[in-house]
Amino acid sequence: MDKGTFYITTPIYYPSSKLHIGHTYSTVATDAMARYKRMRGYDVLFLTGTDEHGMKIEDSAKAAGVTPKEFVDNIVCGEGGVLDLWKLMNISYDRFIRTTDEYHIESIKYIFKKMYENGDIYKDAYRGSYCTPCESFWTSSQLAEGKCPDCGREVKYAEEEAYFFRQSKYAEKIMKLYADDPDFLQPQSRMNEMLNNFLKPGLEDVCVSRTTFKWGVPVDFDPGHVVYVWVDALSNYITALGYGNDKYNDFDKYWPCDVHFVGKEIVRFHSILWPAMLMSLGLELPKRVFGHGWLLFDGDKMSKSKGNIKDPALLAERYGVDALRFFLLREFPFGSDGSFTNELLITRINSDLANDLGNLVSRTVSMVEKYFGGTLPENHEDGVEDNELITMAAGLHSTYETQMEKYSFQNALAEIFKVTSRANKYIDETAPWILAKDEDKKPRLAAVLYNLLETIRICTIMLSPVMPDSCEEIFKQIGVPEQLTTFENASVYGGLQKNTTVCKGEIIFPRLDVEKELEALALIG
Ligand code: MSP
Repeated sequence: MDKGTFYITTPIYYPSSKLHIGHTYSTVATDAMARYKRMRGYDVLFLTGTDEHGMKIEDSAKAAGVTPKEFVDNIVCGEGGVLDLWKLMNISYDRFIRTTDEYHIESIKYIFKKMYENGDIYKDAYRGSYCTPCESFWTSSQLAEGKCPDCGREVKYAEEEAYFFRQSKYAEKIMKLYADDPDFLQPQSRMNEMLNNFLKPGLEDVCVSRTTFKWGVPVDFDPGHVVYVWVDALSNYITALGYGNDKYNDFDKYWPCDVHFVGKEIVRFHSILWPAMLMSLGLELPKRVFGHGWLLFDGDKMSKSKGNIKDPALLAERYGVDALRFFLLREFPFGSDGSFTNELLITRINSDLANDLGNLVSRTVSMVEKYFGGTLPENHEDGVEDNELITMAAGLHSTYETQMEKYSFQNALAEIFKVTSRANKYIDETAPWILAKDEDKKPRLAAVLYNLLETIRICTIMLSPVMPDSCEEIFKQIGVPEQLTTFENASVYGGLQKNTTVCKGEIIFPRLDVEKELEALALIG
């Protein structure tokens, strides 16, 4: 079942402060997709990392009285830092890149020089409106009411000798790319936005070096300049495979990337600047860029400066890592914005995990224990009432796959919960407690409980990319051997052996007291 390779990336995060739940959202989504593809038999490379250069970091380090390297080391590797958070959230990345890694720096010098030698980088002077926090120059037409269109803050006039990248040269080619491959940038609305806001009005060249600060990769042939942070950052997707360095050598194996998952505000860099840079380098383009929405808090994007940070570690500690991962992907449509509230979190955990799935598992396991001492007999008697549930469970792998292939986590999970709800209803319809009263009905009772176990097995396989640890626990409780937990095995109904033995365990998703939790969450922020 070798399906070939699948290369997926998250943006590399700015370690300018602790990561919050917005960052966690995009990383959890990437992780779920990477796990899903592994389950499908792909040789997956999941890359994430940190984007450690730039003026913002230099300034923050100065304010903290440490060197920039000490500053980022602390946020990336220190206690409660980026690496700890990804460990806690069970992020199964295969490679972690830091833009301060020596091999990456070596590659950036090579990449910059190569684009210069190709005639795509030239020296000039920049005059215009500059947003310091975003490290971006803006043309007057791009400004939003005179302010930075990305963060809404004040811009100031700045003038600086700089190198420029001939992005303008690639406008036609990028429009052709969008026309030839309408799926290149998803969702579709993002492609329209790029076309209407940037490509059709005419692309400008991009300023790609700075002389006003030092914390960056020096331009090899003009060391007074450091490479613009976006050229440095975007290139991580190829330097992490060994492009321009000897650290890794799997560029030929994994490039072009299958999908870059990125937040909507950085789609522009990924779907215009990045393809143009790759064209300049003579490299293939990524197959897809998916621009996901933001998690909003009181209608606003979460940020430290706005003071509306939600700490993922606190939520994971209180409700479990898997419940939090599930909530993020089940509640919000991946391609659009979603408003995070504590009520939604608690309600979703209670309705789907405690009442629906958790209840189904514990009721089923308890009944197998109570009526058959934990092991089903071989003799089962099928009934017509079984058909609808069996058809739904047997068809789940294909409806789920369709949604996952579109990166529609929310819909994929909704498909699973249609089946678990149907299974709960099936318990009420078949009334196992009545069948249990009559010895002659034992084969019928065995079939009912078997259908429940088998339905849970199939649903759990589909849930495992999102809730890996809880699914392992469910498999244990319903007695599924490892070889029956693969995606291939989920497409065949009836894989579970007839005389399965269950193993009752802890309640996997305890029901939450809504009022108590809301009060507690209001206190912890
Ligand atoms: N360093 C750049 C990316 C370079 S990629 C070559 C960057 N870093 S970031 O730390 O500011 O953001 C990283 C990602 O987190 C972005 O995709 C961003 O959209 C995402 N999110 C940050 N806050 C978010 C929400 N509130 N909601 C959803 N995603 C959010 O940009």
